[in-house]
Amino acid sequence: MASSGQVVAAAAVLLLMQLQTVTSATFGARDPPPPALREAQAACVKYLGICENRLHQYNNSVYPTDQDTMCMVRCAGIMVGFWDDCQGLKLDGLANLFPALAANDRVRYQIMSCAEKRIATCPPQDTCARAYNGFRCFLDAQKGGFGAKDMQPQQSTPPQPFDAQEFIRSLSICAKLQRIPKDRRDLYVQGVFPNDDKTRSLIRCVGIRTGLYDDEQGPNIALLYSLFGAGQSESEFRRRANLCIDANQPLLEAQDKNAQAYVKLYRCFADQISALVRANANAMA
Ligand SMILES: *[C@@H]1O[C@H](CO)[C@@H](O)[C@H](O)[C@H]1NC(C)=O
Repeated sequence: MASSGQVVAAAAVLLLMQLQTVTSATFGARDPPPPALREAQAACVKYLGICENRLHQYNNSVYPTDQDTMCMVRCAGIMVGFWDDCQGLKLDGLANLFPALAANDRVRYQIMSCAEKRIATCPPQDTCARAYNGFRCFLDAQKGGFGAKDMQPQQSTPPQPFDAQEFIRSLSICAKLQRIPKDRRDLYVQGVFPNDDKTRSLIRCVGIRTGLYDDEQGPNIALLYSLFGAGQSESEFRRRANLCIDANQPLLEAQDKNAQAYVKLYRCFADQISALVRANANAMA
């Protein structure tokens, strides 16, 4: 027979479990964001050089009002498609992430009219604040519990297989993030990536988003091999890559992350990258 101590303990556990259920139902905004948004957040924290421990907050849907967070929201918004510097907040991009939004016209209207007002209060050039304020309107609506009951369980879509299309997609996304002018983009579609500030930063962005490059680890040779290695053994591919990386290393300033990425990712694989871009440029328009 169970002792009264055990009974009390069991009752306490039950009560705790109930409390947890109630808490998570009430604070829907603290549910973790869907996987695609979490991944974009992680890439943006790296790309923007934000302290990595902030990710813990973002992974719990906590977005404080500070400059780093605001720019992270803009970056993630451009990556997953709910923000565009010219078009503003994109509801369809949000509905892709949060399916309950797609069918809820009332909430869609509420978010858009809130976003219009809040974005108008930000200076036009402060794109981070604009993106953040637009997104806050969504968070407020979510806290209000829109469609909480009919929210589908988040299907974990397997990550896109990494291929040329994904590389091209990253180029367009990073060009938007960077607000790359048209004359530069016209060069890129020809496979030409000149050694200037904007382009160096673009290459680093593409590298981080695709996982082809990391500030600490350098180029991901295994992944580059899967993309560019046809007709070569991986060890030969690796040997050549390291030759190029090592030869350029002494010329690089350790502090300049963009220059590091430009040389180690672009210059060491320039022929392959240019060929891939030229072959797929129509997808980049
Ligand atoms: C946040 O989520 C990303 C993507 O799922 C994951 O890679 C990262 O480890 C998480 N970080 C923290 C601190 O929870």
